[in-house]
This record gives sequence, structure tokens and C-alpha cells, in this order.
Amino acid sequence: MHAPAEPEFLACRIDGYTELPPGKLANLVTYLEMTRPPPPRAPARPDLTLVETTRDPDAYRALYRRIGARWLWMGRLALSDAALARTLAGPRLVSRTLVRAGEAIGLMEVAFGEDGEAELAYFGLVPEAIGGGSGRWLMDAALAQAFARPIARLTVHTCTFDHPDAVAFYVRSGFRPYKRAIEIHDDPRLAGYYPRETAAERWPVIQPAT
Ligand SMILES: CC(C)(COP(=O)(O)OP(=O)(O)OC[C@H]1O[C@@H](n2cnc3c(N)ncnc32)[C@H](O)[C@@H]1OP(=O)(O)O)[C@@H](O)C(=O)NCCC(=O)NCCS
Repeated sequence: MHAPAEPEFLACRIDGYTELPPGKLANLVTYLEMTRPPPPRAPARPDLTLVETTRDPDAYRALYRRIGARWLWMGRLALSDAALARTLAGPRLVSRTLVRAGEAIGLMEVAFGEDGEAELAYFGLVPEAIGGGSGRWLMDAALAQAFARPIARLTVHTCTFDHPDAVAFYVRSGFRPYKRAIEIHDDPRLAGYYPRETAAERWPVIQPAT
């Protein structure tokens, strides 16, 4: 039997710059929380509906990529078919797809913990739907889903790879920032989850030296 791989450590400077190993990306993560939901804010949108998210791994990954490619989302792409299907079918996950004119345009997922807390684990729209009020409508729906169960706290985190207005959007949604972290991870394009040109205008691939 193989021993589990030892985690690798990188000494980060607490002030100044820390050079990243080739093939790695780093982002600044902001954690936010909410203990009580504010009243819903979005106007009525008869053009929008919420449906259960597909549990078919390929269909799910296609939607996840349409929303997340620009922001280099990769958490769900690292899961095998079986692990993804298990995650999506889990009793503690509420996953809903936002639909407009028969087309999926957004995704939101609330993961309920065993500690009376929940996390807004995924929240986003396809690029063409951003900026038209659908995000606010989806947030009202997400908060309703989360607080439909007796939770004491809802958290969310967003990072510098996400939409530049995401933190402000979450604050306007009633979340309070409470913590930051630096996350270092493999570049998902070099790991093969996205083509190399994905999001390259903001985050060009830096080719590791051979
Ligand atoms: C974060 C995200 C969901 C926000 O969605 P958005 O489309 O920018 O948000 P909206 O246009 O719905 O809302 C922005 C504001 O404009 C208003 N607005 C814009 N167009 C509108 C319209 N046509 N009608 C009504 N309101 C409108 C909204 O009411 C809202 O105002 P408020 O915040 O004061 O309530 C979106 O940017 C996104 O999907 N980003 C990519 C993924 C991501 O970064 N996710 C978050 C981190 S995990």
C-alpha cells in the first residue's frame, strides 16, 4: 500500500512578494457570512425559473464550465463521474439551475453542514446573463433555499479569479466579510480542465520551464 503523498509547503512572506512555483496560481479569497436573510430585493421576473440541477455528470460539467470557465472554476471538475454524482445526490446539497427562455443561465448551490451552518458553495451566471438583474433574482432564491432550513449562519467565499464585483454584490446581498485567505493551486488549464486560452486575457498561462 502506498503512503499518502506528503503535502508540499511553500514559505510565504507575511510582507512582500512570494514567488509561485511554475504551474501554480494564487488567489486572494474573501469569506463572508450572514446570520439572518434580508428581505428579498429583486423585482418579479416571470421570465426566470429555478429547476433542479441535472445530476448527469457530463451535463452538469457543461453548465459548470459555461458559467465558470471565465473565472477558472475547477472544484467540481476534479471529481470523477461517481464522486460528482454522489455529491449532487447528497441530501445536504441543494443545487438549482436558473432557466430563462428554456436555457440554463445560472447555477446556485447551498451545502448544508452538520453544525447548523450552510455554505453558498456555487453561485454564478453564464457570461451573457451577467448584468441584467438575474443575479439579484437568483440571490433572493438562494437565500430562500438556505434559510428554509433552520441554519444559524450562511457563509460564502469568493476569490480574485471571480467577477470583480462579486464581493460588492455579496455585501449588497447582506453578507459581511469576516476573513481572507491566500489559496495556491494548480492552474486548471495546465491540468487539462480548460483550454489554455481560457481567461488568458486576465490570467495568461505561464508555461513552466522544461
Ligand atoms: C456575481 C454575479 C452573480 C452577479 O450577477 P449580476 O448579473 O452582476 O447581478 P445583477 O445584474 O442581477 O445585479 C446587480 C445590480 O444591478 C441591478 N440590475 C442590473 N440590471 C438590472 C435590470 N435589468 N433590472 C433590474 N435590476 C437590474 C440589480 O438589481 C442589482 O442591484 P442591487 O445589487 O442593488 O440589488 C455575476 O457577476 C456572476 O455570475 N459572476 C460570475 C461568477 C461569480 O463571480 N460568482 C460569484 C463568486 S463565486
